[in-house]
Amino acid sequence: MSFNSKVVLITGASSGIGAACAIRFAKSSATLALVGRNHDNLTKIALQCEKLNHLKPLLIIADITSENDIERIVEETIKKYSKIDVLINNAGVNSVPGAHTPAEAYDRVMTTNLRGTYLLSTKVIPYLTKTKGNIVNISSILSNKPIPVMTPYCMSKAALDMFTKCTALQLGPKGVRVNSVNPGPVKTELFRRGGMSDTDCDTMFTGIEMKSPLKKITTGEDVAELVLFLASDRASCINGSCYVIDCGLMLGDAGGL
Ligand SMILES: NC(=O)c1ccc[n+]([C@@H]2O[C@H](COP(=O)([O-])OP(=O)(O)OC[C@H]3O[C@@H](n4cnc5c(N)ncnc54)[C@H](OP(=O)(O)O)[C@@H]3O)[C@@H](O)[C@H]2O)c1
Repeated sequence: MSFNSKVVLITGASSGIGAACAIRFAKSSATLALVGRNHDNLTKIALQCEKLNHLKPLLIIADITSENDIERIVEETIKKYSKIDVLINNAGVNSVPGAHTPAEAYDRVMTTNLRGTYLLSTKVIPYLTKTKGNIVNISSILSNKPIPVMTPYCMSKAALDMFTKCTALQLGPKGVRVNSVNPGPVKTELFRRGGMSDTDCDTMFTGIEMKSPLKKITTGEDVAELVLFLASDRASCINGSCYVIDCGLMLGDAGGL
């Protein structure tokens, strides 16, 4: 799957799943615009991408909770490349109990995972219409699996799936596809940044690994592979779909049999 001469805009490319996506698209010769807040981390990922495809990614230090920054993400990408073929809405945050007040948790999670993603998409869609491009949203299995200690996060991802479906229906006739990838737990900075201690993170991931039917945990690279497929022409009939990638975790246990 070559993305030669395709412009791929990835939010949250400075860490975790977004960084894995940047590297995977670079391996497939994509021209990259990478968005993140942490300059050093974003630069490190960009250097890895450049080594792979000999193309220097455009780096945009921006916060998707800011409408000015959202304007700038699109302006800088268009100024540099004149078009956008693929938007990967990956930037996201979580909040664990005790880390924030209910209002802080709600605002933090919703303004990034939902508002920022929604507003950036509306700015990028006119360009995707010109290229008959596509969007891949990074959702979560928690869009469909209630976890009360992460209620705002679950709400944000449930709403994101509906955003995927509404935009897919709206934009399909214009030749623009919109899909989501819904990963199970992946070892990234998400939970630590959401307020979970290192020990609790380790305990959680060990427990998940034991419960997982495949006895392993999905990696950022696994997620990136699916994102790349959905963004490619090989997925030309896939629109409005939300793809679970979780090593079978959502199946639950086998009832002791
Ligand atoms: N890890 C999991 O278990 C898991 C499972 C399912 C879905 N997901 C989803 O996967 C996506 C990526 O998360 P991750 O696990 O890779 O976490 P991560 O390692 O914490 O990375 C999050 C990325 O999002 C960026 N970001 C966060 N808020 C931002 C903002 N306001 N503006 C711009 N960039 C922002 C971060 O940028 P900076 O670091 O530069 O600030 C970072 O690059 C999220 O949408 C998350 O909900 C994760």
